[in-house]
Amino acid sequence: MQAVVVYESMYGNTHLIADAIGAGLRTAFDVSVVPVSHASAAVLNGADLVVVGGPTHVHGMSRASTRKAAVQAADKPASPLTVQPDALGPGLREWFGSLGRYPVKAAAFDTKVHGPATLTGRASKGIAHLLRARGFDETDRAREWGAKLAAVAVPS
Ligand SMILES: Cc1cc2nc3c(=O)[nH]c(=O)nc-3n(C[C@H](O)[C@H](O)[C@H](O)COP(=O)(O)O)c2cc1C
Repeated sequence: MQAVVVYESMYGNTHLIADAIGAGLRTAFDVSVVPVSHASAAVLNGADLVVVGGPTHVHGMSRASTRKAAVQAADKPASPLTVQPDALGPGLREWFGSLGRYPVKAAAFDTKVHGPATLTGRASKGIAHLLRARGFDETDRAREWGAKLAAVAVPS
């Protein structure tokens, strides 16, 4: 059984969670954890489970403009932030646009600031929507699981 975890990450938080999800899945699957910049459609070939996650930007999924803002924030002289390789590259929105239909099980996750999603928004809502639009079998339960995992695992 094969699982693929595809993640987008500017500063590494979502990368960290993607690695943790991948480690957990290795108890039952052969797992690949792949940044969205390297996730050609071929990485999904043969997958029995696909897990997709990204950072929450402006209450939802990132856009080119929010990724640019994230890099600019990290470039400020006093910033402790470092950006991941390919941070300015295509994000999950663009990746979904390049995909065909995949009738396989899937789950969405995100990272975000602490606080209720009604205030912060959450990228996993949009990711789940796009998963379903591409024919993935995404369940609300999986999304809730991803959100809870992200909430406990990312330091504030
Ligand atoms: C441009 C920008 C916009 C953000 N907007 C939100 C937001 O609306 N809600 C939220 O909860 N977090 C927001 N955040 C915080 C990120 O979602 C959070 O720090 C996330 O863990 C970053 O993940 P990453 O390190 O994988 O990039 C924003 C961050 C950036 C850089």
